[in-house]
Amino acid sequence: MTTMKRVLVLAGDGIGPEVVREALRVIDWIDRRRHVPFDVQQGEVGGAAIDAHGTPLADATMALAQEADAVLLGAVGGPKWDALPFAQRPERGLLRLRKELQLYANLRPATVFAPLVDASTLKPEIVRGLDLMIVRELTGGIYFGEPRGIELLPDGQRRGINTQVYTTSEIHRVGRVAFDLARKRGSKVCSADKANVMESGRLWREEIQKLRDESYSDVELEHMYADAVAMELLRRPNRFDVIVTDNLFGDILSDEAAMMTGSLGMLPSASLGDQRADGGRKALYEPVHGSAPDIAGKDLANPIATILSLSMMLRWSFDMHTEADLIEQAVEGVLASGTRTGDIMAPGMARVSTTVMGDSILHELDKLSA
Ligand code: NAD
Ligand code: IPM
Ligand code: MN
Repeated sequence: MTTMKRVLVLAGDGIGPEVVREALRVIDWIDRRRHVPFDVQQGEVGGAAIDAHGTPLADATMALAQEADAVLLGAVGGPKWDALPFAQRPERGLLRLRKELQLYANLRPATVFAPLVDASTLKPEIVRGLDLMIVRELTGGIYFGEPRGIELLPDGQRRGINTQVYTTSEIHRVGRVAFDLARKRGSKVCSADKANVMESGRLWREEIQKLRDESYSDVELEHMYADAVAMELLRRPNRFDVIVTDNLFGDILSDEAAMMTGSLGMLPSASLGDQRADGGRKALYEPVHGSAPDIAGKDLANPIATILSLSMMLRWSFDMHTEADLIEQAVEGVLASGTRTGDIMAPGMARVSTTVMGDSILHELDKLSA
């Protein structure tokens, strides 16, 4: 018997609802055409939650997320809420979800679809065939370290404080995810840190090395400074297989990696917690991009990152590899046919809206499964 997949959908702000709508159509397609029942609940996060409930994530929504098999999120934030105090900003809603669901491993795969080789700002020969996985630590580091805040000094100056902290176990658990992934891919891990200037970076390097020597001696490990990784990503991205790094470096390096794929609108992500004894795990899936206020509400956004995030959900939460493959093939087929949203537009191609990109992917899914 196929069990019901309980998915909580939090569309959020800006282009969030627009890109999530297209992913919902794909869920509906799988439900109808592949006979896999989905129970989709919807809730608010970010600015939408502030407007509806006065907080970026209501406790009731947090409880729904705890109960769901998986969460699909659009994006949060926007100019309307930028002046709010820190603890009330839309972004806090997303950070609370990550922290309370203990989603410490954020997988951000940068793969270049063959038809998009020319869409990157980098030369085709640099990005062709790229397939790298960034594993970003997501619940620790400078995003959450204490002390933090803005304080007033006696001389009238203000001081902003954030603290970078990592413990051995935080480093090991995300390291294990990276090494396990590498075993299923190219067996190579690059760990990015600033061990030359930060004690937490020194600890990161030592503990990742220890983990490799004790449990993953079959996997090749190299350590690099994060600034050098930023440079190498532009010079020779194909040299990387899995990159494991902390919360802040992972945030920055993944936006950089997105540009290999053509656009931020192409990069999906999965945020995972520990695997439970029953095989399940808490998980949240979201595009790497934000709410894109500059194009919000205009039906211009690229929904592919969100649709590929759904495909990651099918793989990681539901073991539905056939359907995940189908979605990725449909995306590739649509791109090959020259259908493009503005962000991945190229001469001679047809520029389409968010909705038409969704239509095209559904049409391709129909064709593939006919
Ligand atoms: P952004 O990712 O929203 O936009 C950066 C640029 O990429 C913009 O030019 C935008 O138009 C473009 N872009 C992004 N996604 C696109 C898509 N799907 N299709 C086409 N073009 C796309 O980053 P930003 O402008 O720095 O941040 C805007 C807001 O989003 C801020 O409030 C920020 O905090 C928030 N944000 C949220 C998330 C998230 O929810 N996970 C991630 C990043 C930023
Ligand atoms: C991301 C975003 C978030 C982050 C913000 C919105 C909290 O940039 O998911 O990459 O910094 O992690
Ligand atoms: Mn980011």
